Amino acid sequence: MDKIIIDGKSNLIGSIDIPGSKNAALPILVSSLLSKKNLKIHNIPEVQDIKSMIQLLKSFGVSVIKKENEVILNAKNLKNNIADYDLVRKMRASILVLGPLLARFKKATISLPGGCAIGTRPIDIHLDSLSQLGVKFKIENGFVKGVVEKELVGSKIILPFPSVGATENLIMTACLSKGTTIIKNSAKEPEIIDLAKSLIAMGAKISGSGTNTIIIKGVQNLKEANHKIMFDRITAGTFIIAAVMTKSKFKIQNVNSKYLKSLIQVLSKMKAKLKIQKNSIIVVPTSKINGININTAPYPGFPTDLQAQMMALMCLAKGNSKISEKIFENRFLHVAELNRLGANIKVVKDTALIEGNVRFRGAQVMASDLRASVSLVLAALCAEGKTVINRVYHLDRGYEKIEKTLGNCGPTITRKK
Ligand code: EPZ
Repeated sequence: MDKIIIDGKSNLIGSIDIPGSKNAALPILVSSLLSKKNLKIHNIPEVQDIKSMIQLLKSFGVSVIKKENEVILNAKNLKNNIADYDLVRKMRASILVLGPLLARFKKATISLPGGCAIGTRPIDIHLDSLSQLGVKFKIENGFVKGVVEKELVGSKIILPFPSVGATENLIMTACLSKGTTIIKNSAKEPEIIDLAKSLIAMGAKISGSGTNTIIIKGVQNLKEANHKIMFDRITAGTFIIAAVMTKSKFKIQNVNSKYLKSLIQVLSKMKAKLKIQKNSIIVVPTSKINGININTAPYPGFPTDLQAQMMALMCLAKGNSKISEKIFENRFLHVAELNRLGANIKVVKDTALIEGNVRFRGAQVMASDLRASVSLVLAALCAEGKTVINRVYHLDRGYEKIEKTLGNCGPTITRKK
């Protein structure tokens, strides 16, 4: 298993172009299952989760032509509607194929995704909402089997929680269902807007994406389309926080700052200095960062995917901070590892109490989930001495060759087998 070694007391120099969004690209790749025509996607990030999803789509018979960060998919000749455990266990987002396979085959079998480091990750909202379109599910031997006995028919569905994945599964399935589907309490994340944009380019009839009510009018079939994936707002937020932590003058480019509002507001309250432009954000070094108390929340609230990174920054603040994780039940695996690097963080139920004025010192640490791992990278950049981060495959799932991406911005970061 690879490890990375980071020399501390680094800062970031110059700028970075933010790649395409992993969490927008995954459902858009899956949406190719709905069509018998080519779907050409640009600005795909080169990360492990994308490779895993392409492997899964190929197992159904989707033809995939990939050139750097562009991919052409065609699902005209699907031959399989079973997603096996070995492919699904690597990535929770595999559950997104359930609805589209049902729309094409009227039946589908998916291995239950199982939990992951940040929680049990149930799929009850996916199943309950798809059932309201006419799907009958049963769960046996670790598989979920869905059957459409007659046809998929649109319905008014109220989500008990604005689940991102369940909203995406529902939108894609409703595109090929008969009649109109109204999703109430839908997730409002920008990645949902990007998925809707791509589906509309394919000829789907969708309105309201980005709000809590999305309306989809079913169509018979979809047409050839092109789509460019939006920027990765979590990667952008990660680099903004890295620049603030390392007191670097640094420019984060290819972003849409309106999708980073909650992070910008929190950093401004902490007295970080940011120059906000429409498509870029410049971090200006500042010596004084104040502590703050925040909760994670569904969009447009503070993103759970930036919680670990924000926690690393809070360790350097002049005062104490609190961060409550309201989305996942077990997303504090980075706390023990940050404490190994010299932090002083206590967890009480869903809240982490973070002492400020920390001086990080390099150590051996263990990566756990994708975002927890990157918070260790950020702390390592600020630490006295070297830090070794083990099990780096977690990082590779969501960050393109982090030792190169980050290394090109100044820090000394090497990967070892
Ligand atoms: C998406 O996961 C993202 N993944 C996650 O990013 C992100 O943290 C999450 O949304 C929240 O923003 C992708 O887009 C691929 P949810 P998803 O359904 O769809 C519970 C990363 O690091 N829930 O909104 O799985 C669930 O357990 C990843 O890139 C149910 O109870 O998130 C969680 O507590 C991590 N039943 C909460 O809802 C369900 O059927 C939010 O889950 C579905 C979800």
